[in-house]
Amino acid sequence: MPDAIHDLYQRLVYPPMSHPLSDPAVSSVAATLGGLEVPHPRRARILEIGCSSGHNLIPLAQRWPESRFTGIDLAEQAIRDAGLRAAAAGIGNVDFHAVDLRDFEPAGGPFDFIIAHGFFSWVSDEAKVALLDFCRKHLSPSGISTISFNLECGWKPRLPVIAKVRAIQQAGAGDVVSSLGILRSVTDSRDPEMEVIDDMLAKGAAILACDDFAPVNDPWPLHRFVQAASSAGLRWLGESDPGENLPAALSEEFLIELRNQVRDPLAFQLAVDEALGRKFRSGVLCRDDAPVAGRVSLEKVIGFFYRAGKENPAVDEIARVLRASAPACVPWSELMAGLPGHDAKSVTRQVFDGITRGWIRPRIEPVGFVAEPPEFPRLDSFNLRCAGESLPLVDVWHQPCAFPAAHYQILAAMDGGRRLAGLAALSRSSCPDLDFGPWLRHLAGRGFFR
Ligand SMILES: C[S@@+](CC[C@H](N)C(=O)[O-])C[C@H]1O[C@@H](n2cnc3c(N)ncnc32)[C@H](O)[C@@H]1O
Repeated sequence: MPDAIHDLYQRLVYPPMSHPLSDPAVSSVAATLGGLEVPHPRRARILEIGCSSGHNLIPLAQRWPESRFTGIDLAEQAIRDAGLRAAAAGIGNVDFHAVDLRDFEPAGGPFDFIIAHGFFSWVSDEAKVALLDFCRKHLSPSGISTISFNLECGWKPRLPVIAKVRAIQQAGAGDVVSSLGILRSVTDSRDPEMEVIDDMLAKGAAILACDDFAPVNDPWPLHRFVQAASSAGLRWLGESDPGENLPAALSEEFLIELRNQVRDPLAFQLAVDEALGRKFRSGVLCRDDAPVAGRVSLEKVIGFFYRAGKENPAVDEIARVLRASAPACVPWSELMAGLPGHDAKSVTRQVFDGITRGWIRPRIEPVGFVAEPPEFPRLDSFNLRCAGESLPLVDVWHQPCAFPAAHYQILAAMDGGRRLAGLAALSRSSCPDLDFGPWLRHLAGRGFFR
């Protein structure tokens, strides 16, 4: 099986993408709220397993130049691309290795953050165990690992379709897309599987090959993941984005009812998964001997920086203050200054609730950028390199940002050497349909200019 996985990713470099759920600026908050004080990622050792071409790791290395980053992946071509991109962007605090996790012997001491995104559900059971064992062995005492995985409850409707398509393929029908086409032609239009088939067809062959039809595609329920982690000597602290433990889609009434019926926190989360038909999680794990506090004080929220998240009237007043400072994020002192007459204790409670529902988005540090387009717009060296290669850029929140092909030419010209007027002229000639001013302000709001 490793050969099939190696062959796939060697043939087809995984689409370059950053993953905000794995951003240590956010997962550190999740760990803190789970009772663990993690080292600050600004001075840390950070490893990504299955890093592919480095699109997740390189921007983090650029953000925290005093930290040391390592990325590993089976796929030699992806690792070559990663090394070349980091070098071209002048980012020297990251190294990449083409190696199987099971053969990787890291040098230089334990890691404070280990990221494995899009890895766990796509590898054999043996590699899953190897990943968890590796984390137990190589995490620092207060370090955390962020591991994403697919959930069985959300994947359940897809698995029978996958099985049928594989059977059609085995009968000699050829590739996945034509087999899906055959299945579609014999499926009743009212059959719920039709929606799944159409969704798969919309993804296209390249995505399907490393998604639904990857050599291994093994969604688990949360309790199985938590149990496997525990067997490896790791402790689950919750979701890496604290706002995803109680997703905003769940009503307050539902949660109150559920809390009355289900007392055990893990059983509660399993019920949440079922209620949402959830497909995906990203868990934070620490060593089972890590100094995790039994009870977390609400006052922890005072140390974070905030921006507004999903809309909700429950935090109207707080959201008003956060929106007034957007797109920057606001420290506690500024938030309180914007809420004269409010009692700090009740704001603490509201902010804590807002964080857990995703209405307020916390980070362990502020973000620095120019919110208005500067006279000489300049992308950072990694994004400039991405623009030159027509790859998604990565914004200040670690969100990937893909553009229509024609826009990359303008982005690639944002090297600090051209005035706004020159870029506007380039936009008029190369992308006449682009509304340049609002587009540029949008880019500035996403923190592309520092
Ligand atoms: C689905 S891709 C995800 C890539 C990236 N982490 C992301 O989420 O965008 C899985 C990656 O894990 C790598 N991989 C799979 N098994 C591995 C192993 N045993 N050791 C190291 N890398 C592995 C693959 O080569 C591939 O690049």
